[in-house]
Amino acid sequence: MSDAQNPEPKGLIGRFLAMPADSVPKTLFVAVALCLFASMVVSAAAVSLRPVQEANKLRDKQLNVLQVAGVYEPGMNVAEAFAAFEPQVLDLATGEFTDQFDAATFDDIAAASDPELSVALDNDLAGIGRKAKYRVIYLLKAEDGSLDKVILPVHGYGLWSTLYGFIALENNGNDIFGLQFYQHGETPGLGAEVDNPRWKALWSGKKLRDDNGDVQITVAKSQPAAGPDFYVDALAGATLTSVGVDNLVRFWVGEEGYGPFLERLQAGEI
Ligand SMILES: Cc1cc2nc3c(=O)[nH]c(=O)nc-3n(C[C@H](O)[C@H](O)[C@H](O)COP(=O)(O)O)c2cc1C
Repeated sequence: MSDAQNPEPKGLIGRFLAMPADSVPKTLFVAVALCLFASMVVSAAAVSLRPVQEANKLRDKQLNVLQVAGVYEPGMNVAEAFAAFEPQVLDLATGEFTDQFDAATFDDIAAASDPELSVALDNDLAGIGRKAKYRVIYLLKAEDGSLDKVILPVHGYGLWSTLYGFIALENNGNDIFGLQFYQHGETPGLGAEVDNPRWKALWSGKKLRDDNGDVQITVAKSQPAAGPDFYVDALAGATLTSVGVDNLVRFWVGEEGYGPFLERLQAGEI
């Protein structure tokens, strides 16, 4: 066959196309093209699903607020029921509400990593490093408009992870209605038993502070001197997670946490 009948392919693309299908350049090209295509599909899916994920995250948080306040019933519309709660941005240092931020959108977890909106902790009982200066709390009002409960976000380190949850207090700011975590990475069957309804039920009716105003609530293996009103039995086989919960609750209801707000609540100023 002459060169005129089968000419040498011209240019880079021509030479590439003329190569056998199992040549190294063509194999590499197909592999890279496949990787690029797959990463584009994954990125598109991640971007398009982000609003759905955000909506699910919000719904889950609202569901947890409803549950810890004892108002959730299976099948109820979470967003509608959540409308009964009044979100407020709380200035932790003063214990007063602020309208500096929109309570519906302020992200107090993200604020904890913002140097302007957070402070480093010297006495870091909860193992969180920094705390946001402002937190979003929820007020549940009774039908007559009086305050029924307050729902306060809490978080702190357990054994393997930071546990995020809410503590619900009666309107006297001292009696616990409930405690529940909506996110953690503790071991199923051990530390993750913080989610066990039987253990969560132990918190109901316990008190934070004694008559002297000292924080006495304790999660431990044995009852503290302050007595049964202040005692939640530690999780069996998960003492370290229990110690983490003990620490985080004490931190958040103490002076570095909601202490100033709880004092105002007890004084009837809220
Ligand atoms: C794989 C593995 C996972 C564990 N997960 C937890 C946990 O999530 N929380 C916890 O407190 N202890 C966990 N432990 C147990 C702790 O190491 C420790 O033994 C326990 O907290 C002591 O509790 P106890 O005094 O009640 O036995 C785990 C142990 C193993 C081996």
